[in-house]
Amino acid sequence: MKEFDTFTVWLLMNLVMLQSSLSSGDSSVVNPCCHYPCQNAGVCVRFGPDGYKCDCTRTGFYGENCTNPEFWTRVRLMLKPDPALVHYILTHFQWFWDLVNNSFLQDTVMRLVLTVRSDLIPSPPTYNTKYGYLSWESYYNLSYYTRLLPPVPEDCPLPMGTKGKPVLPDVKTLTEKFFRRQKFRPDPQGTNLMFAFMAQHFTHQFFKTNHKVQQGFTKALGHGVDAGHIYGDNLERQHQLRLHKDGHLKYQLVDGEMYPPTVAEVPVHMVYPKGFPMEQRLAIGQEVYGILPGLTMYATIWLREHNRVCDVLKAEHPTWDDEQLFQTSRLIIIGEIINIIIQEYVQHLSGYLLKLKFDPSLLFGVRFQYSNRIALEFCQLYHWHPLMPDSFHIDGEEIPYSQFFYNTSILTHYGVEKLVDAFSRQPAGQIGGGHNSHEVVLKVAEMVIRESRGARMQPFNEYRKRFKLKPYTSFYEFTDDVEMARALEELYGDIDALEFYPGMILEKTRPNSIFGESMVEIGAPFSLKGLLGNPICSPEYWKPSTFGGDAGFSIVKTSTLKKLVCLNTRWCPYVDFHVPRNEEEREPRKPSTEL
Ligand code: HEM
Ligand SMILES: *[C@@H]1O[C@H](CO)[C@@H](O)[C@H](O)[C@H]1NC(C)=O
Ligand SMILES: *[C@@H]1O[C@H](CO)[C@@H](O)[C@H](O)[C@H]1NC(C)=O
Ligand SMILES: *[C@@H]1O[C@H](CO)[C@@H](O)[C@H](O)[C@H]1NC(C)=O
Ligand SMILES: *[C@@H]1O[C@H](CO)[C@@H](O)[C@H](O)[C@H]1NC(C)=O
Repeated sequence: MKEFDTFTVWLLMNLVMLQSSLSSGDSSVVNPCCHYPCQNAGVCVRFGPDGYKCDCTRTGFYGENCTNPEFWTRVRLMLKPDPALVHYILTHFQWFWDLVNNSFLQDTVMRLVLTVRSDLIPSPPTYNTKYGYLSWESYYNLSYYTRLLPPVPEDCPLPMGTKGKPVLPDVKTLTEKFFRRQKFRPDPQGTNLMFAFMAQHFTHQFFKTNHKVQQGFTKALGHGVDAGHIYGDNLERQHQLRLHKDGHLKYQLVDGEMYPPTVAEVPVHMVYPKGFPMEQRLAIGQEVYGILPGLTMYATIWLREHNRVCDVLKAEHPTWDDEQLFQTSRLIIIGEIINIIIQEYVQHLSGYLLKLKFDPSLLFGVRFQYSNRIALEFCQLYHWHPLMPDSFHIDGEEIPYSQFFYNTSILTHYGVEKLVDAFSRQPAGQIGGGHNSHEVVLKVAEMVIRESRGARMQPFNEYRKRFKLKPYTSFYEFTDDVEMARALEELYGDIDALEFYPGMILEKTRPNSIFGESMVEIGAPFSLKGLLGNPICSPEYWKPSTFGGDAGFSIVKTSTLKKLVCLNTRWCPYVDFHVPRNEEEREPRKPSTEL
């Protein structure tokens, strides 16, 4: 009798298990994590077929969905100003910021900006396109971009989870209706092409999506500002580009001026159209930079700067070998890049009246991890193609795209001075607000959206919440363009189903600004974490000896865009990330202007 009982129990258990395994394959059971129930960065874990738990550990919240604030969280929430107010204060009250700039308060506010922003980025990194949960593989395998939010679970009933339409809008329809430029709309912040090409040149050292394998892989294993766009993303390429003398990089002379060597001399892989002569292909660290004269121009400037820095070091350290001169110059170049990006590029982009300061020691007293991993979301949001104009105005001529792409002779014909002058004077397009992408880059927007679908990126509103922004409640709140709101609503069905990239670009812009709230509040944390998370900013590295002594350290600390250009050219053109502001700046430059 007893034996029989045990057998019955065993049989029943098997039946129950069979049934539950059947029902978990049953499409009527919805994975509860598809509802994104966990708020405030809580982690959704599925239990059983239809159960879930939110892990609210150290979020400052508790409860089933991490929605109840703990006491100190409640206090902090009460004191925390709205990001729109903070932005307003940082961009108004000139008299106040004049008091703050260059006083001890500048350090305090700057430290606050850096910590508040970078605290939003997990470090060490978390998920990637394959792993929606923590895993050693995700941490260890640098070929993946990381991700802040896990992918939409595979078994959700709808493409964006549980909201929206069963089929996402046709990508072509989206780009034609909302992205295509009607009439060029210049950026109201006065951004120019010198900025636009800097954006592209700077970011393509760490955004190098590997399109050969499926979604979410990168070829840039440095995951940050490693100057791989100057020196190559692997050791073999670096050695091919190096002269192996005095730390220098290889170069060619045209009319006595230094330019990158040709592929005929330095046989590295560069992307050029089939049949393009090897003697006209320029050999550069980044293989795609041949496409635009704006990129080869920056490549030329950094090449000259590297070789100039090597000479400064050699004069001080005649005993140093080629390797030490090269390696130390590379660290100086990385420092110069970070300094110029923070103090001029981000300063311009932010529109802040607070003078931004690159000073790693601001973070020495606080908790901060010196590491960085490039995120897929960061790569997606940085597709700033609306910056591109309708054509290029150089030295009195108008050059259409057809003559601009892969045209090596533009660089050597005009020279660095005239290109810098031209690009600094020509306005770039406003990035946000839609209807501002030139035809030649419209296809790229399509590719971005397709890529995000392949990678199953979560909805725009989930990212808003992750970055402590209120989710939009309607398309009419998202954009002031009523026609766009209506059309988006029809295509997506629900604001909670709006995709990440269209959300970032089409969102209403802030008054007189280059883009909307989300681009700043989501983009800035990735950016600042990447810049300050660089090893040269750590206490062990940030000292004169790292850069070959006080001279090298000072090159890093005092670098500016203007010095970068004018210490490496015959005459000093108009050079800025802003179009000319006054009569004097609008005056054409003469080839004799001193720095
Ligand atoms: C006429 C100028 C430009 C053309 C023809 C162009 C074209 C392209 C193409 C074909 C791609 C690859 C598509 C993809 O990866 O999804 C791409 C990627 C990208 N572009 Fe542009 N682009 C231009 C200017 C710019 C500018 C000014 C920026 C400014 C930030 C920019 C940022 C990016 C980024 C971040 C990527 C992703 C890179 C990667 O994932 O490897 N592009 N662009
Ligand atoms: C938690 O979220 C789920 C799914 O969104 C919802 O059904 C449930 O009512 C929420 N629980 C609480 C306590 O708010
Ligand atoms: C403070 O810095 C901002 C940004 O660089 C600038 O616009 C403002 O004029 C500065 N004020 C002073 C007194 O330096
Ligand atoms: C990283 O992951 C990919 C895909 O699984 C694999 O092909 C590659 O070999 C891995 N790289 C390393 C260094 O393990
Ligand atoms: C390259 O640019 C030059 C100068 O603008 C122009 O004359 C030439 O036709 C261009 N070459 C091509 C192949 O478009």
